[in-house]
Amino acid sequence: MTADRTLAAEGLRLGYGDRVIVDDLTLGVPGGRITAIVGANACGKSTMLKSLARLLSPRAGRVLLDGKDIHRLPTKQVARQLGLLPQSPIAPEGIAVSDLVSRGRTPHHGPLARWTTEDDAAIAHALEATDTAALADRSVDELSGGQRQRVWIAMALAQQTDVLLLDEPTTFLDVSHQIDVLDLLTDLNRSRGTTIVMVLHDLNLAARYADHLVAMAGGRLYAAGDPGDVLTADTVRAVFGLDSRVIPDPLTGRPLVLPIGRHHVPAPHDATA
Ligand SMILES: Nc1ncnc2c1ncn2[C@@H]1O[C@H](COP(=O)(O)OP(=O)(O)OP(=O)(O)O)[C@@H](O)[C@H]1O
Ligand SMILES: [Mg+2]
Repeated sequence: MTADRTLAAEGLRLGYGDRVIVDDLTLGVPGGRITAIVGANACGKSTMLKSLARLLSPRAGRVLLDGKDIHRLPTKQVARQLGLLPQSPIAPEGIAVSDLVSRGRTPHHGPLARWTTEDDAAIAHALEATDTAALADRSVDELSGGQRQRVWIAMALAQQTDVLLLDEPTTFLDVSHQIDVLDLLTDLNRSRGTTIVMVLHDLNLAARYADHLVAMAGGRLYAAGDPGDVLTADTVRAVFGLDSRVIPDPLTGRPLVLPIGRHHVPAPHDATA
């Protein structure tokens, strides 16, 4: 088991140029648990994740890793403890899958960069777990969107960090591979105690897999807590401007959101509408 790392944001203000995108955001990420972040397009989810990963400096406030300001910690130390899979990662042109995944091991090497059997084992496990071992010799450029996404997840896994931040890890994946990835992240959380923070657009999968759900709106925290408390029809309306019905997922009892569009209004006889 890895030590549970705590990650928190205090009074964060983030922006680009003269635009403030995220403001007054205070957030605690429970160590050793799975946190999902949901919110409308452009509300600041990726911006916040970049800041949690130390890639974007706050205009105000702090990000704390184990109680220490992450921007004051050495880069390599942060890289060994915390990994980020960005929303649209860019692979070096022509790079082979195995080479890309092996780059995940870089933070573990000292200046002499000696390759160890531990590195080999971490890479083999990451390829196996993401069902990408058969792609190892292929060029990343020539993979399908879903294959490429799984390779990036393999790279993130190979880092074996205590905290893993993933920005829409299930994008491009078919339903079966979405479930595979979320099951895999759950395995990682349960077997190694890895703290997982992921942005997801599928509210139902977020509610099913997360221990802790964070809803953002307009660059601020709208609600955070147990998925059953956070994911209500009121939240969906406030965060997405969408009417919905929320019922218990018959499989898990977690919230299941049924969006109500203009063409699918509740039937008139339906008393639960
Ligand atoms: N590098 C950048 N420079 C300038 N503006 C940016 C940059 N990155 C993001 N933004 C702006 O910041 C706002 C929030 O973007 P962000 O990527 O954080 O949204 P998001 O919640 O992740 O959205 P999505 O669900 O579409 O991924 C948007 O208005 C976006 O245009
Ligand atoms: Mg985003």
